[in-house]
Amino acid sequence: MPELEKSSRGTWNTKLGFILAAAGSAVGLGNIWGFPTQVADNGGAAFILIYLVCCLVVGFPVMIAEFTIGRRTQKNPVGAFKALGKGFLAPLIGYWGVLCGVMILSFYLVISGWTLGYVLEEVFYFFGHESIASTLGDLGHGLKNAVFSVIFMLLTVLIITGGVSQGIERATKALMPILLILLIALIVYIFTLDGSMEGLIMYINPDFSTVDGDLILSALGQAFFSLSLGMGALITYGSYLNKEQNLVESAAYVTLTDVGIAFIAGLLVIPAMFVAQYGGTEIFNPETGALHSSVTLVFDVLPELFHQIGGVLGMIIGITFFILLGLAALTSSISLLEVPVSYVIDEFNVRRKKAAWGVGSLVAIIAIIISFDISLIDYFVYIFNEIGLPLGGLMICLFLGYFWKAENALLEIEQGFEGVESHWFAKVWTFFIRYICPVLIGLVLITTIYNIIS
Ligand code: PFF
Repeated sequence: MPELEKSSRGTWNTKLGFILAAAGSAVGLGNIWGFPTQVADNGGAAFILIYLVCCLVVGFPVMIAEFTIGRRTQKNPVGAFKALGKGFLAPLIGYWGVLCGVMILSFYLVISGWTLGYVLEEVFYFFGHESIASTLGDLGHGLKNAVFSVIFMLLTVLIITGGVSQGIERATKALMPILLILLIALIVYIFTLDGSMEGLIMYINPDFSTVDGDLILSALGQAFFSLSLGMGALITYGSYLNKEQNLVESAAYVTLTDVGIAFIAGLLVIPAMFVAQYGGTEIFNPETGALHSSVTLVFDVLPELFHQIGGVLGMIIGITFFILLGLAALTSSISLLEVPVSYVIDEFNVRRKKAAWGVGSLVAIIAIIISFDISLIDYFVYIFNEIGLPLGGLMICLFLGYFWKAENALLEIEQGFEGVESHWFAKVWTFFIRYICPVLIGLVLITTIYNIIS
């Protein structure tokens, strides 16, 4: 195999910095907004168990694959597949990733913008400016959505222009501990309120009667989204790694952190929803027993709860929650933008600043369009998240397992994990990447497409 040319791209400063950046990418709206809503929607702990299996059986092996492809090639997803594969088909996997990155970031910005709007909403509500507060909390207000998504984009671009170690690594190293502290402080407080225990019971009590194909599909889609897999974000982060990092151990830390934070976020959000219900807010449809509206649920219900608490305390708790959500979103939006930005830098020889502002502007335009019609979010989620990411994951597994070959990937993993080729891990991982992951993802994708058609 020809030695791949080295480039003078950025690198992570420390091992921990890389793990935190990758965990920062993984922990985001998907954990604090997506996961708890899906759990409540899909029979509580039964969903958690299936989600856990999806993360460990499919997510973890694919994450190792992405880190390995990235570190081996030291390139963006398009460049990486070009370097490892022959012909025009291989880079298509990378192009698909870049497209998913742009599209997912566009709607991600709108939802992230809601969190900024709600931070201000809590303040205006406290000072009695209810009409301004209600505009700030109006999820369908086009102009407000556009302004806040653009502000969020600016924050993301500013961090990205700082580069890999000075921008991304520094920001996530500072933000991740704050996130954890805020999360735990909020949980402790919520558990002092009436109704929280009912929420906890629903959260940890599995209802297996709800398990069906759709639930497994949601769990796998959620696993890909939450672990930032399938579009090359972790190929890109892996491309800034040096050869000393143990890729398997790093992937294990990132997977466990992501699953752990999703579980902890559920301990906050689900009891909080029941506390709101206790105070008179309706969260379930009394006739169907289903949750009201999934996408906006957290944003509809929790502000009600903060208003019920009232006073300075209500405001502080509300602000803290939305800042928490905003920070988690920011460390993920950085990684979403880094995929197309690294592609432009590497493939067109453009300077980082120019690439970040250019791609950022394009994404902001799409986000502004979505801002004025938020029903588009559902379509974007369906195409680029629920189908797009597992499809990307499937192509990555097939490419690695059958074209680049697991033996070559193991040679790369060997650096930082001495003796891996004779370790039991090598056999198990190869088997999963070649058979288990493609079959499971393939089944889920076929069911999704069948459901769309019928
Ligand atoms: N993992 C992020 C979340 O849970 O919110 C979203 C995400 C980031 C998805 C990066 C995909 C990605 F490449």
